[in-house]
Amino acid sequence: AAVKKYQFDIQVRNVRRLCHAKPIVTVNGMFPGPTIYVREGYRVLVNVTNSAQYNMSIHWHGLKQYRNGWVDGPAYITQCPIKTGNSYVYDFNVTGQRGTLWWHAHIFWLRATVYGAIVIMPKQGTPFPFPRPEREENILLGEWWNKDVEALVKQGNKLGLPPNMSDAHTINGKPGPLFPCSDKHTFAMEVEQGKSYLLRIINAALNDELFFAIAGHNLTVVEVDAVYTKPFTTQAILIAPGQTTNVLVQASQVPSRYFMAARPFMDAPLSIDNKTATAILQYKGIPNTVLPILPKLPAPNATAFALTYNAKLRSLNSPQFPANVPLKVDRHLFYTIGLGINPCPTCLNGTQLTASLNNITFVMPQIGLLQAHYFNIKGVFRTDFPDRPPTPFNYTGAPLTANLGTKLGTRLSKVAFNSTVELILQDTNLLSVESHPFHLHGYNFFVVGTGVGNFNPSKDPAKFNLVDPPERNTVGVPTGGWTAIRFRAENPGVWFMHCHLELHISWGLKTAFVVENGKGPDQSVLPPPKDLPPC
Ligand code: C2O
Repeated sequence: AAVKKYQFDIQVRNVRRLCHAKPIVTVNGMFPGPTIYVREGYRVLVNVTNSAQYNMSIHWHGLKQYRNGWVDGPAYITQCPIKTGNSYVYDFNVTGQRGTLWWHAHIFWLRATVYGAIVIMPKQGTPFPFPRPEREENILLGEWWNKDVEALVKQGNKLGLPPNMSDAHTINGKPGPLFPCSDKHTFAMEVEQGKSYLLRIINAALNDELFFAIAGHNLTVVEVDAVYTKPFTTQAILIAPGQTTNVLVQASQVPSRYFMAARPFMDAPLSIDNKTATAILQYKGIPNTVLPILPKLPAPNATAFALTYNAKLRSLNSPQFPANVPLKVDRHLFYTIGLGINPCPTCLNGTQLTASLNNITFVMPQIGLLQAHYFNIKGVFRTDFPDRPPTPFNYTGAPLTANLGTKLGTRLSKVAFNSTVELILQDTNLLSVESHPFHLHGYNFFVVGTGVGNFNPSKDPAKFNLVDPPERNTVGVPTGGWTAIRFRAENPGVWFMHCHLELHISWGLKTAFVVENGKGPDQSVLPPPKDLPPC
């Protein structure tokens, strides 16, 4: 197989945005970081050298890393951090996947500035299942803080409250001219009339689901999370942190300058964030003096748009790219997602906001869970994560303000090799409803159903789409609603699952699956690489 090598030097660099310069953690001094550009079937070696004063680890979001969780990246789940002055070579194969994914730091909140695109071209001679675009462009949506993010998080932890919101959203690291001192910090993409372009859109924001649109231009969705979809045309897309969406854009309008824009979807009662990042779609030959036109984005609380948009997503499910949805389920899981309040002796008012699955707040271990599993080290985690909530209740009824405390624990769920799993993720109104983008490492899953209110086990499964549901690695569980996913546990190892809102991950909204080894050859976890960072 072809081999592609990358050198990632983690270094601190001064970057100026919104009228201020501040030091940020980068890869090779770039913000956003470099693109990994490969073909399906390649072997990739990324030598990560840490020259910053922070511990580091990098996750290749959406790559399945079959039997090889050692290169998955989440700190204390599959590896210990790469300490200052040390390096680790992430050595992996890109097998059976093509499309847009991304990589990001998976420790503290460092992914605020440490992220980049992964572009996997299909095998030589295998065309896209849609008309070949003239050119393609990566569009990374992110957030920018004027203050040091790690310092803000520490301060927030002391108070037991969320840290300040970001000061801007960004497109390819740039907020665009709606923010102060940002005229120079505006991303522009040049197009020629009559030609078509592929945008690889990635939501790398820490805490916001985003709407994205381009004034005057429809978007044709052709892929999500590196899986081809049945193409459909829309004025705007919705994309959650962790997700990727490929769209085709036809440069069919009067040559001019058009804004592309991204703004949060905020339908939870406590959400308030309407910062709009912009970039420019610039027709060739149009001078920069022409004022761009803004797109109409769905309203921040456009729940109806969100539900309709997500309902349009379908796997392509062609003979070449079939959707192999598990039809029989071996294991039924039901996890409630809750926000709560726990005592916190070191916090200013003695309590802290917290989050839980089935009322369990995940406690990070001191060594990697995959090591503990592989070397059979006792006392690091338990495998008694409950398959369903301890006591069923009216999940989305009135807030249950009494007894918001959660149980702490490093508790995982053990899954038999090659068994099929159905997991219902149910949002709750313990404290407040909110939408949660859930990400599973090591797998894609099929989103077979979703709905508002409480999941109804006697009625809802009959409506599941078992033919061409979207296949992805991150799904938005709707505010006060539920989502049903299915996957076949064919990848042995320890695989993290968490809400991809950084705020919630730091509150403990996470757990992991231990997928046992199979009995056949090539069905067990590979031995760890020699340079795996020690704890
Ligand atoms: Cu993109 Cu565990 O994350």
